[in-house]
Amino acid sequence: MKNLNSSFFILHSSFSPMFIEQNYPLLSHNTFGIEAATRWFISYDNEDELRKILSDEYFLSQPVLHIGAGSNLLFLSDYEGIILHSRISSIELISEDDHFVELRVGAGMTWDDLVIYTVGKGWGGIENLSNIPGEVGASAVQNIGAYGCEAKDVIVEVTAYDMQTGEKHLFGNKDCEFGYRHSIFKGKWKGRFIVTHVTFRFSKQPQFSLEYGNLKQVLDGKEINLQTVRDAVITVRASKLPDPEVLGNAGSFFMNPFVSRSQYELLKEEYPDIPSYPVSENSVKIPAAWLIDHCGLKGFQQGNAAVHDKQPLVLVNKGGATGKEIASLAEKVREQVKAKFNIEINPEVAYIG
Ligand code: EPU
Repeated sequence: MKNLNSSFFILHSSFSPMFIEQNYPLLSHNTFGIEAATRWFISYDNEDELRKILSDEYFLSQPVLHIGAGSNLLFLSDYEGIILHSRISSIELISEDDHFVELRVGAGMTWDDLVIYTVGKGWGGIENLSNIPGEVGASAVQNIGAYGCEAKDVIVEVTAYDMQTGEKHLFGNKDCEFGYRHSIFKGKWKGRFIVTHVTFRFSKQPQFSLEYGNLKQVLDGKEINLQTVRDAVITVRASKLPDPEVLGNAGSFFMNPFVSRSQYELLKEEYPDIPSYPVSENSVKIPAAWLIDHCGLKGFQQGNAAVHDKQPLVLVNKGGATGKEIASLAEKVREQVKAKFNIEINPEVAYIG
């Protein structure tokens, strides 16, 4: 066991409400259900605690990983450093008028609890993002999206701490450089900032977005309101995506690739039914699920890791899989898609270790 450094020991003992554990198991902190451990695990409850952590000498000398609910992580080995986790889960009303309401929400709040709260209040904007596993902080880092909506559509501002200087920064929506499953916190500032709060703007006169997939079919004949849309999204998700409590997974393992329009036209000649979503004049998004399916990989199993049989974009832990086993299956899927279609698909899931 590693000796406790004195300053870290002081941190450990003098802030008892903070949760600090050594050699801590991560099984309940990753939805893939991988049995890994971290040298240190710290959960903090407020900005004061975070500031104290960020000014600790030992902390600053260690590799640090900040996690949310672990719904987008693949641990390849034990983590030889400090894993941080926020338990800030406050909701503050920032402003309200006849049309909009702005809420500042703690990064540690469970994402779907926020959806339930806003739907219950009659405030629209994130009902299509129902039942996405994860926490509020990660919604901004990852720019989560589903059924034609993305977190960036409702994010006004992100509060984040610089791990190097300990300073607090406010990032407006534009500063976050949001893109498809992307933000500045995954790009230029990857590993540098810790998101503590996200400010969202919700609408009191919701505009529903029902064009994606079979949402409309599920809602056919029903009154359209925030609750029925939420219920429909949950139904559609449940029909395709495995419940991590039952079968370890991290949602979509791969991002949907963008290809040039000319490459798409060539593919369409060979595969007339290839689905696509326009991205820009020169670029088209192709569902990775379709590519993987057309490689015949649906349900393919290697060791304890498998391609999900209902949605091949999802890789699953059939029980006792290691992170390396899942990564090896992912590599096989990538290689086969590349060989058949000459398209690179890249993981949405972050590999750790
Ligand atoms: N498809 C097949 N075979 C299958 C399943 C799907 O060919 O077995 C094809 C179909 O043509 C289908 C298309 O793939 O229309 C797209 O499938 P689907 O809408 O189920 O998924 P997706 O568009 O690839 C994305 C997000 C999901 C999100 C859904 C709904 C990514 C990486 N994934 O999936 O997000 O829930 O749209 O908006 O963009 C996540 O990020 O973890 C996630 C689940």
